[in-house]
Amino acid sequence: MSDTRSLRVALLGAGTVGGHVARLLLEHHDELAARAGVSIDLVGIAVRDVNAKRAVDLPAELFTTDAETLIQGADIVVELIGGIEPAKSYILAAIGSGADVVTGNKALLAEHGAEIFAAAARVGAEVYYEAAVAAAIPIIRPLRDSLAGDHVERILAIVNGSTNYILDRMDRFGDSMEDAQRVALELGYLEADPTLDVEGYDAAQKAAILAGLAFHTSVPAAGVHREGISSITLEDVESAREAGYVIKLLAIAERVVDDAGLEGVSARVHPALVRRDHPLASVHGGNNAVFVEAEAAGPLMFYGAGAGGVQTASAVLGDVVSIARRHLAGGVGVGESVAADLPVHPIGAAETRYRISLEVDDRPGVLAELAGILASRGVSVETLQQSASTPADGEADRATATLVIGTHTARDAALAAAVDALSASDAVESVRSVLRIEGA
Ligand code: NDP
Ligand code: HSE
Repeated sequence: MSDTRSLRVALLGAGTVGGHVARLLLEHHDELAARAGVSIDLVGIAVRDVNAKRAVDLPAELFTTDAETLIQGADIVVELIGGIEPAKSYILAAIGSGADVVTGNKALLAEHGAEIFAAAARVGAEVYYEAAVAAAIPIIRPLRDSLAGDHVERILAIVNGSTNYILDRMDRFGDSMEDAQRVALELGYLEADPTLDVEGYDAAQKAAILAGLAFHTSVPAAGVHREGISSITLEDVESAREAGYVIKLLAIAERVVDDAGLEGVSARVHPALVRRDHPLASVHGGNNAVFVEAEAAGPLMFYGAGAGGVQTASAVLGDVVSIARRHLAGGVGVGESVAADLPVHPIGAAETRYRISLEVDDRPGVLAELAGILASRGVSVETLQQSASTPADGEADRATATLVIGTHTARDAALAAAVDALSASDAVESVRSVLRIEGA
């Protein structure tokens, strides 16, 4: 371990985020030292290719491909490589050598967070990860620390900027899903593998982290129900707007009591209808927001940039300074609490309201039949709108209507069973869409 008035920082990765972290550590060295009460010295940067062209100009002598050796001499290891390996082995090596760790790696924490936090706890090391969820927005520390004395009931969050950008373009500019995705790709919003964003994998990793923190429980990524936005059409978006809603890809974590009376956690990611007067409805473009409902604090909204190299670097540097201060003060920092150890319930246990859009035969008795199908599965109709459909070519003799059913709160399992039964009914031509209504 180095002199207590100087901390050695090893940076792993100098890409979009790491490059700015290195630059800011160097440029703001004296200011950070004054704030932390200790000199925070960047001693090396491990990358794949030391000769790669970089967006940020950094001293060549800091670069190495030998991450293992760099880690061994460090007090703080900042992991900004991403992915599972070698990031996981490097973090465990850092913890094993007595260093504290800062990471922005949501994929790794959602998969292997429990193992990493346990390894850190065994040796009294810190693992901070403010950048892992919603990048620049301070949300990890508020959940882990500021709200540690409250009882979080629910989190509704927009944690994937690129899908928010896509849905926002569809809503505000009338783009089709294909056009909006193309623009998002051209602007560099989407990950190299766009399915990580579009199919909700990225948001599900962040939901697992938020749910675990909020409910003091270990929530694996596999416990998060995931649906992406690829099935959302411009017609869905326009129909939602007419009804006073906007469609958002939400990461939701909430306390749920299942049919057996067992309290647990529901963590899920799916497109949802959000009322236009809800704070989340005004989150435009690639921004993120986390809406927390806590028993004593009430509703809280955290909003800002959910991606970007320099924005994310802000969260990383905040963690580095926190760890530096903790080094100076000694003792154990603010750690994870999994004391509640709640079960993670499947999506079927979640309860919300739904909007079901159907193409149905326009003949006497159809409404009663469909209401009966819903009622027999315990789903109660709240609103019903019918409009005449334009017959398809060659089907002018077949009268159909578009029916939009709004339900009262129902269990997701009951709703799914009802939708299966509606699909199987002779009166139903097609189930056009089923969307959950959240935040009402
Ligand atoms: P990049 O892909 O831009 O950078 C990755 C860096 O890691 C590169 O410098 C690369 O080296 C280095 N690297 C890759 N493999 C190895 C290896 N085996 N050994 C040593 N170095 C390696 O990633 P980002 O900066 O975008 O992301 C970093 C982390 O931050 C990820 O976990 C990401 O999820 C997270 N994050 C990113 C956000 C963003 O907006 N970009 C927002 C929030 C979190 P080389 O340069 O030589 O190729
Ligand atoms: N692909 C992510 C997003 C980047 O669109 O939000 C930040 O994690």
